[in-house]
Amino acid sequence: MTPEFQPLHDTAFRGFASDNYSGVHPEVLAAIAGANGGHQVAYGDDDYTGHLHEVFARHFGDPVEVFPVFNGTGANVTALQSMLPRWGAVIAASTAHINVDEGGAPERVGGIKLLTVPTDDGKLTPELVDREAWGWGDEHRAQPLVVSITQTTELGTAYSVDEIRALADHAHERGMRLHMDGARISNAAASSACRCARSPATPGSTCSASAAPRTARCSARRSWCSSRRHPRA
Ligand SMILES: Cc1ncc(COP(=O)(O)O)c(C=O)c1O
Repeated sequence: MTPEFQPLHDTAFRGFASDNYSGVHPEVLAAIAGANGGHQVAYGDDDYTGHLHEVFARHFGDPVEVFPVFNGTGANVTALQSMLPRWGAVIAASTAHINVDEGGAPERVGGIKLLTVPTDDGKLTPELVDREAWGWGDEHRAQPLVVSITQTTELGTAYSVDEIRALADHAHERGMRLHMDGARISNAAASSACRCARSPATPGSTCSASAAPRTARCSARRSWCSSRRHPRA
């Protein structure tokens, strides 16, 4: 028999400072409980991981690859590491979560140099990217090979699809890749009434997403990456 559980907090209280504060939706909890029977092969070979791919393909289009990780910081570090050689650098807004709010994880854990640019509204533009997009081939400079944006930004602004496309084209033309910290991509999709699949992925580019559903909640954390390798990378 399950022992009776008494919550230690006021479950009627609502706080909107962070989605990390929230509990899990009852339907999600019910689905987890429903899947919690018998045995399934581990290490990604279970039926649910297979289904996760179908769900992401529906939202982001195919081809897509999904790698569940523990949290948003882990998603960013893992995605950026997968996109960069050891000498690579990332251009990001100075307000970006990867720069301000991840305890230095991209630098400490990922060994990644961040090249930050001040912005008016948290959004990068091709012109702002160019302030740091230089020095390829210079052995003294960490090589700018990724442009990272957050959708929606840390300042509450959202990139339009056209703005993302312009950034992706700009990065690709310079041999860089575009990474999106998509912690709030569902908010952006809802606010622009646009499907996530409209994220620009140029032909031949790779586009990967990683999600970290905490077992206690199901807010998808996605890092979205695209583009070609820099010829020198
Ligand atoms: C834009 C953004 N990226 C990444 C993260 C990191 O997520 P986590 O706290 O799960 O590591 C957050 C967390 O709030 C976030 O807002």
